Amino acid sequence: MRIGVLGTGTVGQAIGSRLVELGHEVRMGSRQAGNEKAVAWVSGAGERGSEGDFSDAAAYGELLFNCTAGEHSLEALDAAGAQNLAGKTLIDVSNALDFSDGPPPAVGISNKDSVGASIQRRFGDARVVKALNTVNADVMVDPAKVPGDHVLPICGDEQAKPGVVELLGEFGWPAERVIDLGDISRACGMEMYVTLWLGFMNSLGTAEFNIALAR
Ligand SMILES: NC(=O)c1ccc[n+]([C@@H]2O[C@H](COP(=O)([O-])OP(=O)(O)OC[C@H]3O[C@@H](n4cnc5c(N)ncnc54)[C@H](OP(=O)(O)O)[C@@H]3O)[C@@H](O)[C@H]2O)c1
Repeated sequence: MRIGVLGTGTVGQAIGSRLVELGHEVRMGSRQAGNEKAVAWVSGAGERGSEGDFSDAAAYGELLFNCTAGEHSLEALDAAGAQNLAGKTLIDVSNALDFSDGPPPAVGISNKDSVGASIQRRFGDARVVKALNTVNADVMVDPAKVPGDHVLPICGDEQAKPGVVELLGEFGWPAERVIDLGDISRACGMEMYVTLWLGFMNSLGTAEFNIALAR
């Protein structure tokens, strides 16, 4: 499948590389074509990897990942262009981190709203699914890095979710460990979890962990 990965950071690179490894064709997008990190990523990705600006990557992808800084995701997606998102599954991996009062960060959009819901409101024709933002980039694409039956919440567009669960399965997430929380309003809880996640990381001294559910 042709996939547009919007974002050149750790997450964009981890997801882009994993998708290429799985046989997908990936175009990485950034504010400006020729972005240094994107060019370096392409040189390691081989012939299935390419790069361009946010609009190029969004137009290219049949499915899209938003791996941009959550507090700037709407700007990035505006640059990608509503027409390039329309009718497509957009997997939103973002968290909005507000470092204005220094570390640890606050959640930039919270309580009653989220980046995921803001994206769905702004781009009504996109099929937004929130996923993967509750784990570190390395765990996103290789859940076996953490032993046990740990889980991944998702929420969002009903029609898009089955395809997203399938793609998560390719990453290594068994469908029974993907917990569907409902519509995109649930992204609020998924994004506010980042403060608890940061607390766990601080105590455990590693970012390679995840949560399991007992019931
Ligand atoms: N790091 C993790 O393990 C992890 C785990 C869970 C969730 N997340 C979330 O995943 C997302 C990506 O994280 P990351 O660490 O890979 O990268 P990041 O540094 O949070 O974001 C990098 C991307 O954001 C874009 N960006 C920054 N400012 C922008 C602006 N003003 N307008 C438009 N685009 C802008 C950058 O564009 P350019 O390419 O043009 O520079 C770049 O592509 C974030 O939302 C993060 O909170 C990260």
